[in-house]
Amino acid sequence: MNSTETATLYQHPDRNLAMELVRATEAAAIRAVPFIGRGDKNAADKAAVDAMRVFLGTVNFDGLIVIGEGEKDEAPMLFNGERVGNGRGPACDIAVDPIDGTSLTAAGRQNAVSVIAVSDRGTMLDASSIFYMDKIVTGGAGRGVVSLDQSIGDNLRELAKAMNKPVGEMTVAVLDRPRHAGLIDAIRTAGAGTRLMLDGDVAGGINAARYETRIDMCVGIGGSPEGITTACALKALGGYMQGRLAPKDDAERAGGVAAGLDVDKLLELDDMVSGNNTFFVATGVTDGGLVDGVRRKGPMIRTESIVLRSRSGTARRVIAEHLAEKWL
Ligand code: FBP
Repeated sequence: MNSTETATLYQHPDRNLAMELVRATEAAAIRAVPFIGRGDKNAADKAAVDAMRVFLGTVNFDGLIVIGEGEKDEAPMLFNGERVGNGRGPACDIAVDPIDGTSLTAAGRQNAVSVIAVSDRGTMLDASSIFYMDKIVTGGAGRGVVSLDQSIGDNLRELAKAMNKPVGEMTVAVLDRPRHAGLIDAIRTAGAGTRLMLDGDVAGGINAARYETRIDMCVGIGGSPEGITTACALKALGGYMQGRLAPKDDAERAGGVAAGLDVDKLLELDDMVSGNNTFFVATGVTDGGLVDGVRRKGPMIRTESIVLRSRSGTARRVIAEHLAEKWL
């Protein structure tokens, strides 16, 4: 931000859209609670989607869902291309993940969150035609240091040097999947430890970028929508990330090319979301390392969220208490 922009920000503080969007992730998380541990991930997701949609409709913005629940025919609400918001205010791209960790929620496991990310209209990469993305996420120390084009061993050694700590003290978050067996071995062979995640690599990526966590890096193949969403958060956290789309087969690759994607490109943060006006909110559904899950405390329901804005570089933790009787 140049000095004129800084002066403008402080003299005329503009709106932090994320402070309004957090109501939608809070609502989604609260409505998902009855489905925690009930074994039905679609029912949990539907409850969260329905709640999120109602609250998004009240926000003063003209939102276009770039990353949603899928195509219109399969997802009746919050589908890619749907307009949300009341149509007044800034034109924005929006990524929604009413629950990142639907299986975690259904099983009653930790680390499920409800997420929304927003950027200026036309700045968010629509990678929806390719389901998976290879990702590497670190704090700001990783910029110019780590790369998907380097081996994981080299990335760990270089990042450890940049962070001024031994590789033996590094911890890497990876989705626990058979496809990552070789990656996990290589991390351990390099001398670092792993934090294997059952699901939820948005929270994993954010934890890698936050300075106060024990996670130094998050790597591996996860959802490409989750990759773009993570990129929006990283812009506000000053973290670093690269991605590369990982088509499952030739047909998916061809679909990506037909949709205009440069499938083999090494994607930098700016390729995933350009500009510096991103907003990101996440509310805990179940307890996790990023945020607490929804809790009932007597007559109140407590939610915890993080609220990030790149333009001002602010990360807020919002604890809200909601009168339970209003949610019956
Ligand atoms: P869902 O909540 O949509 O099931 O996503 C959970 C998740 O773990 C994401 O965080 C991650 O990016 C993706 O699934 C990984 O996909 P897969 O489970 O197929 O490996």
